[in-house]
Amino acid sequence: MTTPATTTIILLLFSATLSLMMADMSIIENDNNHPSKSRTDEEIMHIYKKWMIEHGKVYNGIEESEKRFKIFKDNLVFIDAHNSENRTYKVGLNVFADLTNEEYRSYYLGMKYDAHRQFVQSKVASQRYAVSSDEILPESVDWRTEGAVSTIRNQGKCASCWAFSAIAAVEGINMIMTGELIDLSEQELIDCDRTINRGCAGGVMNYAFRFITRNGGIDTQEDYPYLEADGKCNATKVNTKVVSIDGYETVPSNNENDLKKAVAYQPISVGIEAYGWAFKLYVSGIFTGRCGTSLDHAVVVVGYGSENGVDYWIVRNSWGSNWGESGYVRIKRNNVAGGIGAGKCGIAMIPSYPIINEYADGRAGVVSSASI
Ligand SMILES: *[C@@H]1O[C@H](CO)[C@@H](O)[C@H](O)[C@H]1NC(C)=O
Ligand SMILES: *[C@@H]1O[C@H](CO)[C@@H](O)[C@H](O)[C@H]1NC(C)=O
Repeated sequence: MTTPATTTIILLLFSATLSLMMADMSIIENDNNHPSKSRTDEEIMHIYKKWMIEHGKVYNGIEESEKRFKIFKDNLVFIDAHNSENRTYKVGLNVFADLTNEEYRSYYLGMKYDAHRQFVQSKVASQRYAVSSDEILPESVDWRTEGAVSTIRNQGKCASCWAFSAIAAVEGINMIMTGELIDLSEQELIDCDRTINRGCAGGVMNYAFRFITRNGGIDTQEDYPYLEADGKCNATKVNTKVVSIDGYETVPSNNENDLKKAVAYQPISVGIEAYGWAFKLYVSGIFTGRCGTSLDHAVVVVGYGSENGVDYWIVRNSWGSNWGESGYVRIKRNNVAGGIGAGKCGIAMIPSYPIINEYADGRAGVVSSASI
């Protein structure tokens, strides 16, 4: 173990080395197709230092720094091998490049999906967004360009993805119905929605929607800000009901056609399996990598489209903007011809969404203004 004094000295020395390294960094710029075998240790060290600066990484002592370097190297070997094959997506040195897969899973994945409870609590899937045979839906939809999606947030080391997913869906439908995009509070869900959901230990979006419905609304992000930790439910704030919903529904499971229609009307909360190494290190493109259907992460689908003949979902994540495509991931859509099935990474298994009353007045909702 190092004493605090030696730690400081090591860090200072390390910073001095970092500044020296910066001078010749241009040579390793985006050199992702280079197989690792041919990378020298010196080259990898340069890449590591550049990455540390980019991501503002500072480690506590030389031991930790060496441990992280070793993990970083393992991730880089994976990246080189993965990107050397023709794929519709790339992996790379994103914010998780110094984490083992085990660390990544335990810190950032947190949707505790209990199939039995889900079944008992859920209503029968709604037919609201069932696609009729002659129906024509927009070719592409992107709720970001309609102003219905807030800036990317970061859940940090708290398995609160479910709260971020639910809040994004509520912010979306509220904007679509009222014209106002209001940032709402994940922390209120973490602290106060304790019947089944478990804050930083995981949760499911349906229960979050149910909480907001029964509570009569939810507070703003500004008034009840995110703490990246479990907190005590604030009685004043839980009674500050800025945006309300009238209930929630689920899209029929395992039907990407219905999910497409639902997304054309509003951002939709979904569960996915984010367990894999490729998903952890995803940086761009349409994710077609290895993943199963053991749902362990919650996100929100904010659109869809196609690129070079490959269909995709636009998925907003809650891992900050240093992951994926500025915080988003595009996941392969129509994973199975005909659109029937769990979808890539199980994305079509448990889609759900909040509803706002106006729908009950005979209005079918506002379909995205994207051209048909
Ligand atoms: C990789 O993709 C490119 C562009 O689509 C194509 O020209 C090339 O033949 C592919 N290579 C392999 C090995 O499949
Ligand atoms: C709850 O929030 C109010 C402001 O809305 C604040 O004045 C109060 O101190 C908070 N209570 C606790 C226990 O943190």
